[in-house]
Formats: sequence, structure tokens, C-alpha cells
Amino acid sequence: MNARIYYFTGTGNSMRAARVIAAKLGDTQIVSMRTNPADTPATDVDVVGFVFPVYHWTMPEHAAKFVEQLDINPNAYIFAVAMPSFICGIACERLAEILSAKGLKIDYGNLVYSVANYVIVYPPFPSPKLRVPKTEKKLKLIAAEIADRKKREYPKASRFIKNRIDKVMIPYMELQKYADNPFTISDECISCGLCSRVCPCGNLTLENGKPTFHHHCSNCMACVVNCPKRAIGYNITGEDKKLLNAMSSKTPLVKIMGLPKKRKLYRNPFITASDLCKNQE
Ligand SMILES: Cc1cc2nc3c(=O)[nH]c(=O)nc-3n(C[C@H](O)[C@H](O)[C@H](O)COP(=O)(O)O)c2cc1C
Ligand code: SF4
Ligand code: SF4
Repeated sequence: MNARIYYFTGTGNSMRAARVIAAKLGDTQIVSMRTNPADTPATDVDVVGFVFPVYHWTMPEHAAKFVEQLDINPNAYIFAVAMPSFICGIACERLAEILSAKGLKIDYGNLVYSVANYVIVYPPFPSPKLRVPKTEKKLKLIAAEIADRKKREYPKASRFIKNRIDKVMIPYMELQKYADNPFTISDECISCGLCSRVCPCGNLTLENGKPTFHHHCSNCMACVVNCPKRAIGYNITGEDKKLLNAMSSKTPLVKIMGLPKKRKLYRNPFITASDLCKNQE
């Protein structure tokens, strides 16, 4: 095998990107960042890729921790593809910092605008019908550049975003430990365990048949959008309401978080729920 792509995904956009790039590269293994980095180190391949969504203007914390712990061939061609919906922020810079601490650098960095999937805050947008074809077009372009081992400076945050990131977005990191408190499980739940299998953070297990959250949630939306009974809701109540409201002057999204029953859900149209259960392919 020549290449390995590590991906983190909630709703499949990043998995789809990893697949499109892998198909172009050939002889490529795709590994989920849900796995233990020690199990599949990047020491035996010449091309190493990282594909991930953007959360709160940066790289998902779970993905960052994965890369921190990953051993990588120092001579590999390294590429990074971020999948934001609108604002990539410091996502690639964060990855570059982690790699730099290992004496490595990103040879090729790019971003691909994708459907925004934070369905406990807003319905999917822009319309998948309009956005997905554009995403696919750019993915093919990027895949060809990576296959040609092109060099490209990774995207960086504008000064405007950098000046605001501490005040506007970093407080969300504080919220991570409470991020799964508002999830609810309705009586519709059939204990199928799919929510647990799609969770990229190992944050969900079934205890006596009931999905149970373990407080290291990325809010990736995988469990919410894949539940066959739509049994997972999001409702901020009681102590969480006080806590989150106290923080919400710094974190404006908190004020509108919730999941109306009729809200549209989203999963990348090329990716199935069983694809999301895979650890590698
Ligand atoms: C918790 C959360 C935070 C997000 N923050 C951002 C953001 O700061 N900027 C952005 O452009 N998109 C943001 N998004 C949208 C996702 O990055 C985008 O939909 C991505 O393509 C999802 O990838 P996935 O399908 O691989 O999970 C956020 C989504 C979630 C769930
Ligand atoms: S996916 Fe839905 S129905 Fe299945 S165990 Fe999870 S909450 Fe219950
Ligand atoms: S618990 Fe749900 S939202 Fe949280 S990381 Fe797991 S799948 Fe994503």
C-alpha cells in the first residue's frame, strides 16, 4: 500500500472526500480517526492524508488528539483537506502546529465547502441539491492535484477571524464537556445500537438497551441523523439551561440550540449509515 488517509466524520462529507481522493490515488487505505492511532500508524506509507470537518472555526478536538498521537513517516508527502461549510478558520493551522511539533509539515492543504450539518442549530444549508455537486467538483480537482503530488500552502484564517476566535469560538471548547447533556432519547428507541456504532468519538454505548452518553461528545451529529426512529432529540433544560445560558453571551449559538421534531436532517448522499460504522476500508 502506498497511501493512507485518516478521516474524522459525523455526517459523511469527510468520508466521501477521503473516498474520492483514495480512488484517484489508488492503493490507498482509509482509516477512521475513531480507531486507536497506535493500531494503524502512518509509518509504512509514502502519502499520508488528513480529512476532517471544521468545528467552531478549528479542527475537531478528537481529530487533533488523534494526530497528536499518530506516528508518521518523516519522509511522507502529507496532505490536509478541511471540509467547512463557510468558515475554515484556523482548522488547517491547528493541524500544521501539531505536525510541526513532530518535525513535519503539510505539503498540500486545501478546503472544500460542504453542506453545513449542525442540525441541532439550523437545518442543513445551503441546499444539498445545490451544494453537493459543487463539493464533488472541487473534490475531483483536489484529488487530481494530490495524485500529482502538487505542493500547496494550506488555508489560513483571515485577521478578522483570528481577532474574534478567542472571544467567539474558543468558549465552545469549554462547552464540550456539557455538549451531550441536552440529548434526549424518546420511547421510540428500539435499542438497535446504530447511534453507538456511528459515533466517531466512542461517546455512546448501550447500557441495558438505553443509549448512554459519556461526556466527550464532539456534537458531530452522527447519532442524531442516523437514528432510524428519530429517537434522539436535543433539549436544553434545568441545570444545563442555567449553565449554558450563563455562557451564551460568549457563545451565541447556544441560545438557538434545539431540535424541533420536524427539522430536516442531513447525511452526505454518497454515504450510508453502515459506511459510517466502518473503521477502515
Ligand atoms: C459542532 C459543529 C461545528 C461546526 N462549526 C463550523 C465552523 O466553524 N465553520 C464551518 O464552516 N462549518 C462548521 N460546521 C459545519 C461542518 O464543518 C460541515 O458541515 C462539515 O462538512 C461536516 O463534515 P462531516 O459530514 O464529515 O461531519 C460545524 C458543524 C458542527 C456539527
Ligand atoms: S439509533 Fe436510535 S433507535 Fe437505535 S439505539 Fe440509538 S437511539 Fe435507539
Ligand atoms: S454522541 Fe452523537 S453527537 Fe456526540 S460525538 Fe457521538 S455521534 Fe457525535
